[in-house]
Amino acid sequence: MTLLNPYRVRRKLNKYYTYIVFLLVIWILWYGDLFSFHWQKSLDPLDGVPRNVVGELIELRRQVKQLKTVLKNHRVPEKEYSDPFLTTIYVITPTYARPHQKAELTRLKSVFLHIPALHWILVEDAEGKTELVTRFLETSGLEYTHLHRATPPEWKLKDNDPSWHKPRGVLQRNAGIEWLRKTFASNKNAKGVVYFADDDNTYSIELFKEMRDTSTVSVWPVALVGGVMVERPHVSPTREPKGGHNVIGWLTGWRPERPFATDMAGFAVNLSLLLRRENAYFSLDSQRGLLESDFLAKVTTMAQLEPKAELCTKVYVWHTRTEKPNMKDEYRLQKMGKATNEGIEV
Ligand code: UGA
Ligand code: MN
Repeated sequence: MTLLNPYRVRRKLNKYYTYIVFLLVIWILWYGDLFSFHWQKSLDPLDGVPRNVVGELIELRRQVKQLKTVLKNHRVPEKEYSDPFLTTIYVITPTYARPHQKAELTRLKSVFLHIPALHWILVEDAEGKTELVTRFLETSGLEYTHLHRATPPEWKLKDNDPSWHKPRGVLQRNAGIEWLRKTFASNKNAKGVVYFADDDNTYSIELFKEMRDTSTVSVWPVALVGGVMVERPHVSPTREPKGGHNVIGWLTGWRPERPFATDMAGFAVNLSLLLRRENAYFSLDSQRGLLESDFLAKVTTMAQLEPKAELCTKVYVWHTRTEKPNMKDEYRLQKMGKATNEGIEV
């Protein structure tokens, strides 16, 4: 009875009024803050992230923006670089020590750095890995594998031999193929493309775009080789399917009747196809000019070849050869113990 007396209720309320208001304010602040916490979280994903991490993110965003500008300037599609499923191109390069070796490797590196998903397999023709090449690769910024395999002395060119006297780079390319077989031993379906790139040729950025979707063996023209301006596959439209094209022969100066009259720089092989053709290696016993033909015959047929570079009408690779530098005075100075490259890597 007494409890329900409105007069007494109001008196009690008056007495505790301040406490009630105080508790209400605390309640609002507490839940208000909680709500605002949730609300902020959904808007700003960086809330609660340490300051140094936020700083790093801002810096990374700035760098990405800068790199996108570089790609745009080089007219390289940004999509290629951000595609995590882009097929890897394994480039196998034989190389050997000589005064201009680093110059050749530098020219290749400058192109390869523009190519996404490229794995360089550099194989030294030497008894061991040299310091020069090791350092070169470590600081290259490229994804690479460094191997070595020495050509036995009886298979080495002598100073005065003509360049076609003995095959070059054979065992080194095979070492690269062996590495691929070992690396993908448990996955013969591995996605990839294999290209044999000698260290003295000139490669364009476009070339790698052409070879990336090779499903068997792709082919294209090679310039400045075989005594002519350009050697190329002879491409002809197919009857079936309409709009299709086949390689039906070779437009070369020298021996166009060879089964695959192309230079090493003129083709790329699908990785999984190479892995399945377990006896596909280069042979020291191949006749002069048949190194490529003998290899390709183990991998594919003419009918299966995929003509690239706008149906073999564009030149994207040149079989350049570097002039041997004149070292006459260097040898004289060396004899006097005054080598010009003492303490400086060339
Ligand atoms: C031509 C072809 O383009 C080569 O692919 C082919 O291997 C060669 O003929 C051949 O018939 O054997 P060419 O320019 O005459 O090439 O050969 P090089 O460029 O002198 O050598 C081809 C590759 O083998 C180069 O990457 C080179 O660095 C390497 N090489 C050369 C060695 O690893 N060791 C050597 O003693 C010489
Ligand atoms: Mn060459």
